[in-house]
This record gives sequence, C-alpha cells and structure tokens, in this order.
Amino acid sequence: MTSRLTTPLDSCAARTRHWHLAPPGSDSGVGGPAAAPTGAVTGPGAHRSRLRALASSAHFVTHLGDVLFDAASSGGEVLRFELYGGPGPVAVIFEPSYIKSVVTADEAIAPSATHESPLRPIVGGESVLTSLGRRHRQQRALLMPRFHGRSVASYQQSIDDATETALRSWPVGRPVPLAIIAQQITLDVIMAGIFGLPEPSAMTPAETAMRIELLRLLRFSTTPIATATQLMNARREDPVGLLKLFLRRIDRRILAVIDERRTAGDAGARDDILALLLEARTEDGAPLSDSEIRDELITLLLAGHETTANTVAWTFERLTRFPQVYGRAREAVRSGDDDYLEALLNESMRSRPVVPAIARHLLEPWDFGDDRVPDGVTALISILLLHHRDDLYPQPFDFRPERFVGVRPGPHELMPFGGGNRRCLGAALAMAELRTVVGELLRRVDLQTTDAPGEAPRHRNVTMIPKAGGRVTARSIQR
Ligand code: HEM
Repeated sequence: MTSRLTTPLDSCAARTRHWHLAPPGSDSGVGGPAAAPTGAVTGPGAHRSRLRALASSAHFVTHLGDVLFDAASSGGEVLRFELYGGPGPVAVIFEPSYIKSVVTADEAIAPSATHESPLRPIVGGESVLTSLGRRHRQQRALLMPRFHGRSVASYQQSIDDATETALRSWPVGRPVPLAIIAQQITLDVIMAGIFGLPEPSAMTPAETAMRIELLRLLRFSTTPIATATQLMNARREDPVGLLKLFLRRIDRRILAVIDERRTAGDAGARDDILALLLEARTEDGAPLSDSEIRDELITLLLAGHETTANTVAWTFERLTRFPQVYGRAREAVRSGDDDYLEALLNESMRSRPVVPAIARHLLEPWDFGDDRVPDGVTALISILLLHHRDDLYPQPFDFRPERFVGVRPGPHELMPFGGGNRRCLGAALAMAELRTVVGELLRRVDLQTTDAPGEAPRHRNVTMIPKAGGRVTARSIQR
C-alpha cells in the first residue's frame, strides 16, 4: 500500500495555518484514523522551476511545525515529503509504536541521520553527535560517566552560582528575552563542566576569547541571514560562506585552549571533560587528535546549553500566557511541591519541544501498520506532532501541567530528549538545570502575565526556539 498522505510542498505555503496560535481547549490535535490518499509526492519529477522548489524547501525548513500540522490535519500516520536539495524521500512519523520500531531498531538498519543534519558542518563529522557505529559507541562510553547521576550532582554548585549571577543583573520593569538570560546560565554551566571553571572571571584569556566567539556565533544564528547560511550549508560536510568564516575564528580559539592545556600537562590532576578527552586513548593507544577534540568540545558546548536555555524561555513564554497555571506553579514551588515542578517541565517540553524532530535512515523497507516505506527513506520522527496527539494528550493546545502529575509518560509518548541509543547524552544535566533555574525563577521573580498571542516558533538548525526569545518583564525580583 502506498502512503496514506502525500503532500505537494508547493501548496504548503498557501495553506499553512499557525499551529502555535491554536486556541486553548481546541481539540484539533493530530493522530487518529487515516484519510484517503491526497496529493502527490513532491519529487524531482514535478514540473516547476528550481527557484520555486528552493522556496518550497526553505518554507519547509523555516515553518516546519506549520507544514507538518497542516499535512497531519488531513489524517494519516505517515506523511511523505521530498525536499529540493534534501536527503531524498522523507517519511514523517508520529505514532508511538511506529517511533518505537525505528528508534529501538538495530543501528545497522536504522542509523541516526545526524551526520547529515544542519549541525554537521558546524560540529564536524567526528563527534558523539555525528559519528556512527563503533566510533559512536566508544565516544558515548567515554563521555557518559560525566553526564550521569553523581557527576551531574557535581554540576549543582555551578548551576546555583550561574543562576544567582543572572538574577543579580536582571533588570526590573523592562522586557527582556529570557533565552539570553538563561543562555548565560547554561553556557557557564557547560563551560564549567568542560573546562572545570567555577565562573567566567576565573577563565584564562584563551578561554574568555573562546566564550566571546561562541556567543558571537549564537547571536549571528538568530539573524535572518543565518537561515540563508543554513540552507547554503545544508547537506555539506564542511562549512561554506559566512559560517566558514565564523567557524574559522571559533576553531582558532578552541585550538588555543587545547594547546594551553596540552602545554600545562595537568590533565591527570583535573576532572573536567577536556582533561578526559586529552587523557583518552584509542584502542591502539593513540591520543585523540586536536580536530577530534575540537569536534567533541563544540558539540557539547552547543548541544549543551542552547537547548536548555530555550526550554527555560518557552516555559515562561507559556506560563505568562496562562496566568492561572503560573499562579499554581509559583504556589507549588514555594510550598516545596517538587512533583508539580516536574510536571510543569514535562508539559513545557511537550508543548514546545526545543528539538522538534529527530531522524533515522531506513536501510530496509519498513512497515508502519499496513503502510510500507521502501528502503533509502529518511524517517523524520516528529516529536512536535507526537506531543500533540489528542489520543495521548486531550486538548493538546492547552498548557496543563496537571496532565503529568503522578503520571510517568511512556518513553515513546513524551520524548523531548529523543530515544534509543542516541538519546540525549545531557538529559540528566538538562533536567538538573531546568529544576534549579525554573524553580528559582518561580520562587524569586514576579513576572507580568500577558494576553499577547503566543510567540511564534523560529526554526534554527535543529532547534525550535521562541521568536522573541521568550520576552518577559519582571515586576519584582528577590535578590
Ligand atoms: C532541554 C535540553 C535538551 C534537549 C531538549 C535535548 C534534546 C536532544 C535530542 C532530541 C537529541 C537527539 C536524540 C536522538 O536522536 O534520539 C539530543 C542529543 C544529544 N544531546 Fe541533547 N538536549 C538537551 C540538552 C543537552 C545537554 C545539556 C547536553 C550536554 C552536553 C546535550 C548533549 C547532547 C549530545 C552529546 C547528543 C548526541 C547524543 C548521541 O547522538 O549519542 N544535550 N539532545
């Protein structure tokens, strides 16, 4: 049987509604019985100009949520697309058992597609995020102990300190993008973990220069020109254009830090991640090269802070638009109700997953129910659509932490951190940061609520972030 729903991309721009503005209480989530086949697979055979195809692909990348909600609203559980300059045919899935079949499959038949993701030209091909097979398993095994239980507890002091610093400088009475405030916290935390530094003021000049350069890259990545740069770099192994220029500067800074550490020769006496990488030996006893260490460092720096910062921003973007929930959350946190805080974080990551999709290559034909997808297709697992299935989450456009109180969601029903052998390495650290930062903000900051429409999602690389950065105004802050 062919796909139940195939979507002509050209028509997406015209039909798109804004999913993030769906009114609370509406039951127009996704999932449910399949509709008859509609449309035609968009592919190289379709007659249209190169420019039009490029515009459709750009629309897909920049309005991924709108396009997918729109396609899913016609029914069907497997949505098919083919993008100009993309990875070939794509099957979008968002049904828990279909997702489980892919993310828990042997890597030999469903490997991660991150080595082809927009992050590939930035983080390189040799990091834990982009490598495959044996190399990936070795990298994960090397790093995992630094992101588990006791190790995460050792980050707590830097999380507390960074949160305190951010609260001290937060202006009252003026709107600020919370993503920027949270980013300073999460960048300091991951920098402390990687370089073993208590705070920015204790950094060496080389480390400070690297931090500044990273922030510059992040600021650039929110500009419209960055979207064009992303498209230019799509599916490339090495960066081109402006991205290449930015990365050349960052690489110089990172290599200077690695060099400084090699010269100091104190890796054995330190317990930070850079020391771990400097000490690591391959099976034949060789140390990691500078370029391998660089790929790992930039992966952890980027994956390790932006995602968490934007989750904080989305949490308060939602809370300030749902005043009753905001009131309930403050009351809960102030009375030590940790379960409610946990439920709030789940609800925030359900309704606004910062990584809205993950991908695996299907190297064999795959049966999704009675819908067979041929080999060579990329399975795009839409976390966003999964999280808006009304059979799992009634009235999915409501913001209702109560739905998670006393509930442990299944691993393929709520999956902000992905799943299987590629599940987010930093999930425990991210949760520790979120508990502290969101908890402290609820305890000590009094924010203005608003009846302004929800912030539009902006798709940046693999992330979905609030367009205005989660703009909030503090009425008062307990410093
Ligand atoms: C709220 C914050 C975060 C979210 C929502 C998030 C989400 C994700 C997702 C969805 C994946 C892909 C999983 C898959 O393909 O199945 C991933 C991978 C990864 N994340 Fe996170 N992440 C967060 C924070 C962090 C932090 C703090 C770190 C710390 C270093 C981190 C490091 C990584 C790494 C290294 C990978 C690649 C894992 C692999 O391929 O084996 N992330 N993350």
